[in-house]
Amino acid sequence: MPQETFYTTTPIYYVNDKPHLGHAYTTIMCDVLRRYHDLLGKDTFFLTGTDEHGENIFRVAKQAGRDVRELVEANSQLFRNLWPPLNISNDDFIRTTEERHKKVVSEILQRTYDAGDIYEAEYGGNYCLKCERFYTDKETEEKPGFCPIHESELEYIKERNYFFRLSKRQDWLREKIETDPVFLGPAQFRTEVLALLRDPLEDLCISRPAERMRWGIPLPFDRNFVTYVWYDALTNYISAIGYPDDEKFKRYWPSSMHLIAKDILRQHAVYWPCMLRAAGIPPFRALRVHGWWTVEGKKMSKSLGNVVQPLEEAEKYGLDAFRYFLAREMSFGSDADYNARGLVGRNNAELADDLGNLLSRVTAMIGKYCGERMPPLKDPTPEDEALLARLDGLLEDLPRHLEETTVHAFLEKVMQTVAATNRYVTNQAPWALSKKGESERVGTILAVASAMLAGAAQVLWPVMPGKMEELLAAFSMPRPERLRLCPVEEGAAVRHVRSLFPQIALAETGAETGEASEGAAAKSGVAPIKKEIAFEDFAKIDLRVATILEAQKAPGTDKLLRLLIDLGVEKRQIVAGIAEQYDPRSLVGRQIVVVANLAQRKVRGLDSKGMLLAVPSGDGFALLGPDGEAAPGAEVS
Ligand code: MSP
Repeated sequence: MPQETFYTTTPIYYVNDKPHLGHAYTTIMCDVLRRYHDLLGKDTFFLTGTDEHGENIFRVAKQAGRDVRELVEANSQLFRNLWPPLNISNDDFIRTTEERHKKVVSEILQRTYDAGDIYEAEYGGNYCLKCERFYTDKETEEKPGFCPIHESELEYIKERNYFFRLSKRQDWLREKIETDPVFLGPAQFRTEVLALLRDPLEDLCISRPAERMRWGIPLPFDRNFVTYVWYDALTNYISAIGYPDDEKFKRYWPSSMHLIAKDILRQHAVYWPCMLRAAGIPPFRALRVHGWWTVEGKKMSKSLGNVVQPLEEAEKYGLDAFRYFLAREMSFGSDADYNARGLVGRNNAELADDLGNLLSRVTAMIGKYCGERMPPLKDPTPEDEALLARLDGLLEDLPRHLEETTVHAFLEKVMQTVAATNRYVTNQAPWALSKKGESERVGTILAVASAMLAGAAQVLWPVMPGKMEELLAAFSMPRPERLRLCPVEEGAAVRHVRSLFPQIALAETGAETGEASEGAAAKSGVAPIKKEIAFEDFAKIDLRVATILEAQKAPGTDKLLRLLIDLGVEKRQIVAGIAEQYDPRSLVGRQIVVVANLAQRKVRGLDSKGMLLAVPSGDGFALLGPDGEAAPGAEVS
């Protein structure tokens, strides 16, 4: 019988963002799944990568005055560098700027075009630059004109373009979702997509005029256009495994499972299967959608300064405690909150107190009563059997949890089993039996508890490979290759492990100060104090006094003023959102404080280099400035 396969993928991440907790979560979950399937004896393949084309990154590069190729190269490297220290076992890393990818995108575009499923037309619509897609009025019903994901203003764009006949595949897709229970999950997302398919689908604009933006893959049938970034990106899942002819494609595609978060549900549940169908390629096997991580109850964002860096967390708490927390805390499909209290709580209760302590007790007793060798498991009692049977139960449940991506629920069961083993050891009280000279029974109890520990270590290995290999090594067992839930070999050397997972003091994580500050902040109505920074970080900010030379309202807005300021060494323009508080004429000659070394950016199409400082006052803002005349350009220290 041919070996069963399992192919899992993460979204390919945009390179205009540094990798953070959200990216780490999906990637760790794929890693966990692939490792479980490995243990079940499957032939597995795990893909991740970076999404490097499109208007967004093109603009970021332009604004930073950098070559786009060089920028995507550097930022893609940040993702590639992150995965090994997080123990991510991906087999391949696809970049959409690679030739092997571009070739496949051209090929499926040409096939789809030849089949008559791509046509040219004029289109005008509201476009989000960050999502790189048009939004329909229905999708922006809640706040017309604004992106429902990024909350930024949409831009109206009109141009000739190529369109993919999404509408033609609508009935097929609805039926596929309705009749194939494996295809899309968890259930709430299935319901969401089916609801979306009740209204007619609009065809999908899949090109961008090259004269506006060249950073993409040229359409094979019209070189005046480049491919829309989502059409390009989704194709990575088959280009990386060598569609159409490579053995890998034939082998792995039928067992594919894509993991994504709910932000990119429509692209994966609607565009992608229809694209595949139109190109004559069978659909993916399964799409699994997870929720959103918040941090201390807030959306993670650069502006809030609460973006979680996975490596910092892994260093602070230990990589495996971090991986465990992510996999255990988020009920797959629902949102979850990342915070130090939660992580430390689970580490201390579940990993240190339950699992680590059990290991310490059992290995210490084998040292004391059995000469550091695994005793024989003789004449098991019904209680022993009942406990051991729980391992079989776990094994039986595992495939369903993997299929439904409910690893969090599986981990809960494993930890219940560990807790039951702790209770078993306490109730059996081998130390008391030893005093009575019942050494054979003592040996059996310790052998049963060791079998439970070795079993738990194997089913926890995909989540915490490093620590579980340490646990197994205590029983002279190697890294698991296949799940083997049976007693530890009699006579094996056993080493005492005092503290597999050290307790973490919450105070050491810095979380308590944050909490105190947050509590005080809530009472006082001001924002909490942000995370501490090093003096060197502060020293990077160049604060200067500037004199306002000219002030005018920015065209087309009620909020923005365009200021010409004198910084002593140079004059420059900044754009500030203070038009509702200040009459521009009253500002000329006034001195303010600005962040002088902030990278130039565009505000409503106007260049702004630097940022003035202001504080909330009444309904608006009050400008900060020197209390007395200062030379323009004077450093604020
Ligand atoms: N480039 C596209 C995906 C193309 S796939 C063909 C993209 N990239 S992204 O960098 O924005 O990554 C989005 C994904 O990152 C989410 O779907 C999810 O996997 C992960 N996450 C990013 N932030 C997240 C949270 N706050 N919480 C959970 N996961 C999140 O979209």
